[in-house]
Amino acid sequence: MEVIILSDPEAVSRVAARIVAKCIREKPHAVLGLATGSTPVGLYRELVRLHRQDGLDFSRVTTFNLDEYVGLPPDHPQSYHSFMRSQLFEHINLRPDRAHVPDGLAQDIPQFCADYEAAIADAGGIDLQVLGIGSDGHIGFNEPSSSLASRTRIKTLTPQTLRDNARFFDDPSEQPHHVITMGIGSIMDSRQVLLLAFGEGKADAVAGAVEGPVGAMMPASALQFHPRAHILIDEPASTKLTRAAYYRWVYEQKPAWQRH
Ligand code: F6R
Repeated sequence: MEVIILSDPEAVSRVAARIVAKCIREKPHAVLGLATGSTPVGLYRELVRLHRQDGLDFSRVTTFNLDEYVGLPPDHPQSYHSFMRSQLFEHINLRPDRAHVPDGLAQDIPQFCADYEAAIADAGGIDLQVLGIGSDGHIGFNEPSSSLASRTRIKTLTPQTLRDNARFFDDPSEQPHHVITMGIGSIMDSRQVLLLAFGEGKADAVAGAVEGPVGAMMPASALQFHPRAHILIDEPASTKLTRAAYYRWVYEQKPAWQRH
């Protein structure tokens, strides 16, 4: 794992965007795995800037989002379809038919999930997966006790995650309790992983993911088995890491050719 600790979310988002941009420039038909929530907003803003100012070209890129709420139509303001359109898709030259977000209205959910996995495989697999992390250590919406080998499927959100995300819903009765999410096994298949985390509310989860024992009670800890995982965090999210000084030292020592 590469752990990069930077002063604030803006600095982290800039480095994250450079990693994504490098992936696209090296492989113009790259397949990106994308996340929603507060965390990747700065990254998406920076990617839009790189598209507008530096010509970062998404015309051959394919994307697959991690998750969607069950029961929300794509035009619902809190759906992840809406989020992705307003935060990223409407501002770059990604072809709409190459942007995939799970269908929260799928009638046959197991079949939809199997098809989603097949579509990712048909696209050649995910080259770079962007992740946030829940305060309970979830990635995607793989809540604690999720199988570390899980694939795309329906999951029930924990009360803790419902509380964390209640801020997005004016009417709490509209907040779905179920989601379709890529599994931990699906995420682990991606060739490169970029996990971002900001704020002290994520410090315990980050410490568990990076330094804790690997286990289903801390789903993000599965990334310790990923051969190419970058963990990019701000100072407050780093406060529970026992080896923070070492990670900073490693980053400072990075040879020029390895810098992001
Ligand atoms: C979102 C997702 C979730 C979030 C996590 C953190 O697509 O898969 O794992 O990344 O819940 O959410 P924020 O960024 O809002 O703190």
